[in-house]
Amino acid sequence: MALWIEKYRPKRFEDVIGQTDSVEKLKAMLKKGDIQHMILSGPPGVGKTTCAIVLTMSLFGDKWNQNFMELNASDDRKLSVIQGKVKEFARSRPIDAPFKIILLDEADSLTQEAQQALRRMMEEYSGTCRFIFSVNYQSNIIEPLQSRCAILRFQPLSKEDVFKFINKVAESEGLKMDEKAKESLEYVSKGDLRALTNLLQSLSNISKIITDKMVYDNAGMIDRGKIKEGIETALGGDYLKSRKIFEEVIGTGANMKELLSEIFDIITDDKVVDKKISSYVVEKLAETDYRILEGATPYIQFQSFLAFLSTLKH
Ligand SMILES: Nc1ncnc2c1ncn2[C@@H]1O[C@H](COP(=O)(O)OP(=O)(O)OP(=O)(O)O)[C@@H](O)[C@H]1O
Ligand SMILES: [Mg+2]
Repeated sequence: MALWIEKYRPKRFEDVIGQTDSVEKLKAMLKKGDIQHMILSGPPGVGKTTCAIVLTMSLFGDKWNQNFMELNASDDRKLSVIQGKVKEFARSRPIDAPFKIILLDEADSLTQEAQQALRRMMEEYSGTCRFIFSVNYQSNIIEPLQSRCAILRFQPLSKEDVFKFINKVAESEGLKMDEKAKESLEYVSKGDLRALTNLLQSLSNISKIITDKMVYDNAGMIDRGKIKEGIETALGGDYLKSRKIFEEVIGTGANMKELLSEIFDIITDDKVVDKKISSYVVEKLAETDYRILEGATPYIQFQSFLAFLSTLKH
């Protein structure tokens, strides 16, 4: 089954909703043939990756894929990856194109060291490579990188824009919904079109007629129940079973950051954890969060957190 986020990803600048300033800047660069290194900053799911891909397609046509690399920095943010994968791609010769493009998603979570390495690479390989950093917070990017980049600010999408997008997908997929359902979709997705698209796709598997109740019932609620179940299972001492439950949660696309903050809410709000030990659990969770931020492998760190929970019973 094709993912709707790919199916509905705009292929041309004309199809990008909103973001007129950034799109104009990109078009101007294209026209001049002067593509700079860039920071695309803004909230999740408003078109940053999309615009980077459209730019690459406009530049390189059919060959765009061979001259483009996308790295999700939160999984690959270690210095070794920057010095390995990124460097290898940056220094290799572009294929029927003047340069290559590297998109680093979530670059604001790159370590300082990794950013310093990138800064050197940007200079060394500026003849063959352009770097695009996609960030939620520009302030986490070191000054020398910021000063080497054109900065494009992506705006939160207006309600009107989100409605435009909902109408487009609804029409093309034959979904029926009233204004109240659209309002609720806009509300739960907070303007994040990726979240919105994924939600619409999963709702369409339930019914082609979408109501606001369905939207609220399915926006994150199921996951939260599953997460709680996973925590309770671990606390009950069954590490393997809790691991299975969380593999399902992660399989539905939950990212580590979201997962950890959900877990924080559950263990502090729902009184799932005995008061006597809850401070240890929070401390352990904070440690896991920190290690992941510092570049440890998220999956292993998370498993170690679950293993810790499952020892508490004894
Ligand atoms: N401005 C937009 N116009 C049309 N579709 C959009 C727009 N922004 C996002 N989308 C839709 O949402 C999906 C995700 O968008 P995209 O990957 O560009 O988000 P992003 O800004 O890079 O988010 P993140 O910060 O989470 O990486 C796209 O596949 C597309 O379907
Ligand atoms: Mg992105």
